[in-house]
Amino acid sequence: MKFFIDTANLEEIKKAKIFGVLNGVTTNPSLMSKEFIKKKDIYDHYISICHLLDDENGDVSAEIISTNYMDMIEEGEKLSLLHPKIVVKIPMIKDGIKAIKYLSKKNIKTNCTLVFSSGQALLAAKSGSSYVSPFLGRLDDLSYNGLNLIREIKTIYDNYHFKTKILAASIRNPLQIIECSKIGIYAVTSPLKIILSLFYHPLTKIGLKKFLEDYKNIFN
Ligand code: E4P
Repeated sequence: MKFFIDTANLEEIKKAKIFGVLNGVTTNPSLMSKEFIKKKDIYDHYISICHLLDDENGDVSAEIISTNYMDMIEEGEKLSLLHPKIVVKIPMIKDGIKAIKYLSKKNIKTNCTLVFSSGQALLAAKSGSSYVSPFLGRLDDLSYNGLNLIREIKTIYDNYHFKTKILAASIRNPLQIIECSKIGIYAVTSPLKIILSLFYHPLTKIGLKKFLEDYKNIFN
């Protein structure tokens, strides 16, 4: 399973890279707005994110802010020209699906975002989107079962051999990552702190302490 980091923060991406398990980055307009960059520097910021990733570190989802077809394809094409790693992130609306169809025919990578139902995921796959981003955590926040949605999408995509990759988004805790891996989805995107929490187990800490003490007692 691929690990993407859900941030536009360059320092956070650098930290995530250190562990060698990072496969890509997803951003959205809210995450970009936290980075104290000027509007004129947004595209440069995407390029800086791309430069942080080496070849094995996958791609960078950059979200369009247009909401009508013509503007969406123009913005999508501009974003795609910034760097080969850019994946154009497009909201799940009618014009968005049309734009994904257009861009994917031109071999531009796309990520259909703000997906909350199997029907939406089906449309994303039929439009030829490279990725679909179901928002697990936001569904759980409203007492809908986000993992059930992920399971349903996986079944539908497997039934028809759709090539669209499932990128589970809006991750809130490490258990959701584990459950997604059991379902067998392609990737998750989450903040660094959740990826880091996968490292932790109290028995590992206790066990290592004891191993080192025993070694020191005899060999030092
Ligand atoms: C998806 O790609 C979004 O960037 C993101 O995962 C949304 O997460 P949130 O619900 O924590 O804002």
